[in-house]
Amino acid sequence: MADAPDPDRLKLYSFSVFTQLSGAVTAGMIHLGDRLGLYAALASADEPMTTESLATSCGLDERWVREWAYNQAAAALIAVDTDSTPERFWLTPEAIAVLATPDSPAFGMGMFHRFPQTMAALEVMPESFRTGLGHDYDSHGPEGAVGIERSFEPWNRHHLIPTVLPALDGVVERLEAGIAIADIGCGAGGAVLLMAAAFPNSTFVGYDISQHALDRAEHRRREAGATNVRFVDPRSEPLPDDHSVDLVTTFDCIHDMTHPQEMIDAIAASLSADGVWLLVDIKGRDTFAENVRKNPMAPLMYGISVLSCMSSALSAPDGAGLGTLGLPESRAREMAGAAGFTRFRTLDVDHSVNSFYEIRP
Ligand SMILES: C[S@@+](CC[C@H](N)C(=O)[O-])C[C@H]1O[C@@H](n2cnc3c(N)ncnc32)[C@H](O)[C@@H]1O
Repeated sequence: MADAPDPDRLKLYSFSVFTQLSGAVTAGMIHLGDRLGLYAALASADEPMTTESLATSCGLDERWVREWAYNQAAAALIAVDTDSTPERFWLTPEAIAVLATPDSPAFGMGMFHRFPQTMAALEVMPESFRTGLGHDYDSHGPEGAVGIERSFEPWNRHHLIPTVLPALDGVVERLEAGIAIADIGCGAGGAVLLMAAAFPNSTFVGYDISQHALDRAEHRRREAGATNVRFVDPRSEPLPDDHSVDLVTTFDCIHDMTHPQEMIDAIAASLSADGVWLLVDIKGRDTFAENVRKNPMAPLMYGISVLSCMSSALSAPDGAGLGTLGLPESRAREMAGAAGFTRFRTLDVDHSVNSFYEIRP
């Protein structure tokens, strides 16, 4: 029989359990702050705001805004002057970057954008745990695709063209001259649209199995007036298998796929002899222990895996189920080798979550 709980340790343990709930509920409040324009209003104000002025500037009801602001200030996410009556609230420069500046590489609202859809997956999870079958990205609806777009695009906008592509040997020159590129798992097209704009002589195809992502990507393509990129579902138009593609990019998607090895085999069959595969994927480690030791976000990542990444990777009965942290370098090397790739180089790109690899036939 288990020992009786130690009273002090019991209090501490309960506190740590409810701290998780506090984080989850506050994440919901962050979603509202972003969605209702509360952060944008605080960021653009010339001076600290009362909840009355904040509510007025967003067209909202003051009582609700006040309770929200108390949550945010209690969580130390927004600054508050409690000596003034009523209290006044503002954003520090760091808070402005993360909460209210879509152009900042530190902007972090993407995952919060899709927070309701991510948590709604809890409703279908018990069935997934029983049957083993997960749900693909379309199960998160159109806003799920927008959330993914907002998650990755701020960093990409600052680093993809100036940092990542030049790290690939000789690729920028070829992109400038004009080559064929496939961006697989393109989502809402954030990365491929950036590349298409930067390299007008090259032609790009974005592949994704999410109809919501493809719709969003096509909408953005039309808005941008881009004519050198198109978006397709690989189930109706597979990647060419005649070695006609010069560059394949995969951004944070191989670990989400039900059949990643088949996809990697298809990438190998699509690439020309001097072609390049830029693999960008989550920086997983070889063991659970290492992931926990080296990644302070490990609990978040294992949870997101259940709700999103692993669920997608198990959305077919024979899915591989790699999940968020399931493609460490060792496995990426192994899978690339199995597809016949002979050269594998880790790129020196500084990113808090992702690893970058140049892989060649
Ligand atoms: C985390 S999102 C990344 C999206 C995009 N690369 C980005 O950086 O914004 C993963 C994407 O992979 C797509 N995906 C999953 N399995 C796929 C497959 N077999 N072929 C193409 N896309 C796939 C999903 O639909 C989803 O849009």
